[in-house]
Amino acid sequence: MASCTTHAPVSPVCASLNMMQVRAVITQAIANARAALTSQKQLNEYMFRIGIDEPLNMPSQTKTYHQHYAAFSHLNQPAAIQVDSGYIVQYATEQITSQLMIGVDELNSCPGVQMIWHELISPFCIRRDAICDVNAKYRTIDGSCNNLQRPLWGRSNRPHIRFLKPHYMDDIGVPRQVSVTGEQLPSARTVSNAIHRQDPCCPLKERDLSLYVMQWGQMLDHDLTDTAIAKGANDATIICCNLTQEVLMKRSECFPIYIQAGDERFKESCMNFVRSIAGHSDTCDMGRRNQLNQASSFLDSSFLYGHNDEDAREIRSFRDGKLKMTNSGLFPAGTNDQTNCELEGKGDYCMKSGDFRIHVMPGLTAIQVMFLREHNRLAGVLQQLNPTMCDEDLYQEARKIVMAEVQHITYAHWLPFVIGERLWKQMGLVPSPSGFCTSYDCDLDPTISNVFGGAAFRFGHTLLQNSVLFMKGQGFHIRNEMGFNRPRMIFDDNAKGCSYVAMGLSVHPASRADGQVVDSVRNNLFLDMNGRSFDLISLNIQRAREHGLPGYNSWRKFCGMPYAIHFGTGPGGLVDHNPEDAKKLHSIYRHPDDIDIFAGGLSERPVEGGVIGPVFSCIVGRTFHNLKYGDRFYYENEDSRTGFTLAQLNSIKKMGLAKLMCLHFHTPHVQMVPFRMPGPTNPLVNCAMFEDLDFSLWKQ
Ligand code: HEM
Repeated sequence: MASCTTHAPVSPVCASLNMMQVRAVITQAIANARAALTSQKQLNEYMFRIGIDEPLNMPSQTKTYHQHYAAFSHLNQPAAIQVDSGYIVQYATEQITSQLMIGVDELNSCPGVQMIWHELISPFCIRRDAICDVNAKYRTIDGSCNNLQRPLWGRSNRPHIRFLKPHYMDDIGVPRQVSVTGEQLPSARTVSNAIHRQDPCCPLKERDLSLYVMQWGQMLDHDLTDTAIAKGANDATIICCNLTQEVLMKRSECFPIYIQAGDERFKESCMNFVRSIAGHSDTCDMGRRNQLNQASSFLDSSFLYGHNDEDAREIRSFRDGKLKMTNSGLFPAGTNDQTNCELEGKGDYCMKSGDFRIHVMPGLTAIQVMFLREHNRLAGVLQQLNPTMCDEDLYQEARKIVMAEVQHITYAHWLPFVIGERLWKQMGLVPSPSGFCTSYDCDLDPTISNVFGGAAFRFGHTLLQNSVLFMKGQGFHIRNEMGFNRPRMIFDDNAKGCSYVAMGLSVHPASRADGQVVDSVRNNLFLDMNGRSFDLISLNIQRAREHGLPGYNSWRKFCGMPYAIHFGTGPGGLVDHNPEDAKKLHSIYRHPDDIDIFAGGLSERPVEGGVIGPVFSCIVGRTFHNLKYGDRFYYENEDSRTGFTLAQLNSIKKMGLAKLMCLHFHTPHVQMVPFRMPGPTNPLVNCAMFEDLDFSLWKQ
């Protein structure tokens, strides 16, 4: 039989292109992009020199709110991210599409154009690559080679995936600023004030959930996402406010938030906002702006172990499989992390863990410390059982168990409180009560999506309280503003402060997930000595716009839910909102298609038994589905090389958060389910009653 090769038909657009002209346009666009990059850098250096951009703080100085925020805009590995390449690719794409007046998808579908583009861009953009050891027993630190066919899937320092095509004003990278009716969209701060303002009385309690639900969520977030934000010269914070229009236009990374006169909190008319870095695709294709995740996508406890090899090495002791830990059981100071937090007491220092954001709130520090102590406990017991095991094997085995504990608590205990039991079951997220459940699907891309980090998983901001409950003695409240980026509470009473903070989380009710957000983050985020602060919710809304995330209605469609064509709550309207919330949305948006995904999603009525509404549950549920089924090392998978034995797995499935708290926070008792408040249906239990791992199963 004759074999035949089929060629895709050349589209009329491709056929009409003059390749000489295409080459000239691409050459010029890349040259323009490089020139623009140089002038950006020169401008950044100038703004730093004349004292407009804020330098990264030096140790022990009092920090400004910008310097506190810098922990969130820290670049872990600027070279690996290829900041310049992303800029050039995006800038050149904008120029090429507008010069040729052809959309980027059409251009990319022309093989001739692709060839010329790749030839000309290759000196300025390195394709990402990974070399795998197919026999490796353990996960890599950066997530590469989890999928042996697609070794980059889920790796750190790559772009997010998109569940939906981005919505940019120019289709390439300019954020959405205009309503479908043609008028300006309301400013992010206006949306925040109208939709997310806390009732003046007090935050309501979320059923009987404790603040551990919130804190576990933030820990997961720092395991899964760390979006890279643009920096000025010498890592300075780029300042976008109080600039002349001319300078502002030149600062392409600026997208400041305008504040209306008469705002309840801010006297100034502008809140600083710097765009996330534009990242290029793995193969340096022409394309729309996308953002980079510095964290590995997998649920691999990278908040503890680091998102890349360099960080992982820095926190290891390289003795007996242990991580570096002080005598008080805390992370030590890092070599170059002294600028990462505000030092207030004698002997305070900024700790170095796997994630740079460790100090953002004391509760987060405490939970990370819990897993530091757990890792070292496990390494110690494994060594006693197997005295000949080397440092590397002890480290990897202890790490493997910690990762399994985090996965188990997340899937078995935490997720149902967040997305509700129905979806938890429907999406196949329930671990089996005992035994293996092999679920790996090598065609499923586990890379974190842009909408997850840029909007949906920020739901935790609504669960926050205004204070930290510090359980020293009878316990007392300390306002969050005293805790942002300040480790003082942790160091209190010879580092017992860490336990006081952690125990407070389990007896402090979470705020109700009603879309309202407490003032301490909505008005006073990173409050500094000069009384300056951010609104976290404005940052969220603006972030989603600048990432090109389509509006709420598009996500309803994505989740198979009907589009809202009016602001009522009846059929055809905002059927998942309470009438008061729908009214608030109506008061500021001109059309349902304008509703921002963060505002629309967060203000939905929670699903039954969960804390988030149907749209956020759909996005979060889908993400955890991908993280389970797309992870070759998921803890329930049966694999004689990379997995656990059946008996080991069953032993891990008996471990829960309560046991970990007992082990690491000096407490005689904890309630059965720490994600819920203690009470008659969730009584305090003596720590001796909680099962530990059966370590004999790890004797080799
Ligand atoms: C404890 C108090 C918290 C503070 C002070 C805080 C603060 C912040 C800040 C400043 C950002 C960056 C905003 C931007 O410029 O885009 C951020 C991002 C984020 N937050 Fe929170 N947050 C807190 C708790 C939480 C919780 C409980 C969750 C989830 C359950 C969460 C999920 C996220 C996510 C997913 C991002 C995006 C991260 C990324 O892509 O890099 N946060 N948060």
